[in-house]
Amino acid sequence: MNMQSSKSAYILGSANAEHDRLMRQGAWLAPITERLFRAAGIGPGQRVLDVGCGVGEVTLLTARLVGPTGRVIGVDRDAVALAKARLRAGSAGVDWVQFVEADLASADADTPFDAVVGRFILMFLPSPSTVMRDLAAKVRPGGVLVFQEPSWPSFLAQLTHLPLWSKCAELMIEVFKRSGARTDNALGLFHDFQAIGLPPPDMRLEVPLGPDPYAHRWLAELIFTVQPRLQELGVPSDAIGDFNTLGSRLEQELYATRSYGAGVGLVGAWARTPVI
Ligand SMILES: C[S@@+](CC[C@H](N)C(=O)[O-])C[C@H]1O[C@@H](n2cnc3c(N)ncnc32)[C@H](O)[C@@H]1O
Repeated sequence: MNMQSSKSAYILGSANAEHDRLMRQGAWLAPITERLFRAAGIGPGQRVLDVGCGVGEVTLLTARLVGPTGRVIGVDRDAVALAKARLRAGSAGVDWVQFVEADLASADADTPFDAVVGRFILMFLPSPSTVMRDLAAKVRPGGVLVFQEPSWPSFLAQLTHLPLWSKCAELMIEVFKRSGARTDNALGLFHDFQAIGLPPPDMRLEVPLGPDPYAHRWLAELIFTVQPRLQELGVPSDAIGDFNTLGSRLEQELYATRSYGAGVGLVGAWARTPVI
């Protein structure tokens, strides 16, 4: 793999706390991602590239689907996250995965893959379809590209009875917009696949709702991750009040309204490369 570096900023950063957050979030969202990947045909014996793999949540999930006769390569430009991913794979005894440090804009591979997968990555790329075009060239004819990205409008729609949750979601959307990340991922994905000459993708949307304790906490954790960047991005935070009490006030709002916790919607899309 080529190892050039891109200059684009990544709003969520690479602190240890963010890596830990990715693991908690990954455990919570794994069933939704697994359902998408199974629907897209990811299965035993396949060779899969996981782009923007972070600490390896999706890579390890994919490794379970392809089994020891398959192979999964995770790519990320965060060397510390990759070191953690390698340790996790080692302690799980999953030796059919490999982690490679590379910028997606320049990642290279010799052998075609059966599939390219990615979760929460296209939204951060300045030109998702340019990178997707390069990735599609690494997939064998009849192979599949599968991406899962956040749908913020689906999340907002669940919060109309929760004023503080709504304000926090609006703040996060503003942070992503001002950092250059894409927030309209459903239509964005539909367009991306077609922009690179693939058919209109199969798509699905799943919004996690329910009593899972992490559903109560994830929004506060996401806001703590971006808190140091709010001033620089010019995003006012007065509307959400004191950060020290934000987590408990968000939780309290759920109890006071006897509401479920909600997560960001996950919009998934997949399409196959043409068979020549
Ligand atoms: C939100 S995390 C998602 C990680 C993982 N896919 C998951 O769902 O847990 C996004 C990851 O993309 C990586 N990333 C962002 N831009 C990248 C780029 N241009 N090249 C390689 N990795 C990138 C970040 O380092 C981070 O690990």
